[in-house]
Amino acid sequence: MSTEVRVSAPAKINLYLAVGPLRADGFHGLATLYHAVGLYDDVVLRPASRSSMTVSGDGVAIDGVPTDESNLALRAVRALGAHHALDLATAIHVHKRIPVAGGLAGGSADAAAALVGADTLFELRTPRAVLLELAGQLGSDVPFCLNGGTAIGTGRGEIVTPVMTRGEYWWVVVPDDQALATPAVYAELDRLRTAGRAPEPAGPGGAWQDIPDAMLGALRAAHVADLASHLHNDLQVAALSLRPDLAGRLTGLETPPSASLVSGSGPTTVHLCEGPEHAEAVRDHLLTLPGIEVAAVVTGPAHGARVIGSQVGGRP
Ligand code: C5P
Repeated sequence: MSTEVRVSAPAKINLYLAVGPLRADGFHGLATLYHAVGLYDDVVLRPASRSSMTVSGDGVAIDGVPTDESNLALRAVRALGAHHALDLATAIHVHKRIPVAGGLAGGSADAAAALVGADTLFELRTPRAVLLELAGQLGSDVPFCLNGGTAIGTGRGEIVTPVMTRGEYWWVVVPDDQALATPAVYAELDRLRTAGRAPEPAGPGGAWQDIPDAMLGALRAAHVADLASHLHNDLQVAALSLRPDLAGRLTGLETPPSASLVSGSGPTTVHLCEGPEHAEAVRDHLLTLPGIEVAAVVTGPAHGARVIGSQVGGRP
């Protein structure tokens, strides 16, 4: 049996995010297009006498990450143990590169990594469908973080259907150290809609559940300009209402990207570019703006949570 398993898990951005009405369970219906990008947390799992959690960061503020049993990665291992009726006591270490509470699903990525990692560490061979089911119970974005790639998300985001894409897409990711809490951003959207200051749910054909066909076509054809013209996020108006200062990162840039938008519930902004040189130029310009200290060039689609190493010990 392995004494250590190392898993990498990607950040996600939403190329398209339509937020439907508030449901009875407190979640909103979603029609989203998820896209995993090459910014990864590393999650290391070891068997232990009791479960524990430690966190380190690579240029990322980690004070917002709980290390008690409320941590989503620890809850993921507990959920997997409950499924198998086993106590999977595990020491988890998360090395964060994905900004915390940034709209990039960093916590969900760690949970997806913990599921895959514990399954490997304890040699459980859990069927993929069961891992996806457990992931969906842990959080709306966790199933996508397991799969990676590019996928449509429906339900509250937990039902994922992969979509075909061609080529590589270049992004500049600009995190911000003032975290935004996801529930607060959804609540702000509801407030703005009730006040008539944000549009009610509406999609391309008048049905908010539809992902624009042109967007799926652009992804199949690797057509950056077409993709850029369809990027959309219903939560952006709410994130900007809470953080008006972010608006200056999205429009009127001297070195303009193909398109910019807030990632998920923010405050991270993402900027689609035509290729590596364009992305570097956009990044360099963004770094000259006040309040921006970090801007990373990444590509998508990236792989989902996957084991990148394991150690076997204890045998002569
Ligand atoms: O599923 P997750 O735990 O990531 O959701 C965090 C919070 O974000 C929820 O408690 C809810 O307030 C909000 N949310 C929502 N509708 C969704 C997903 C999340 O209202 N589809």
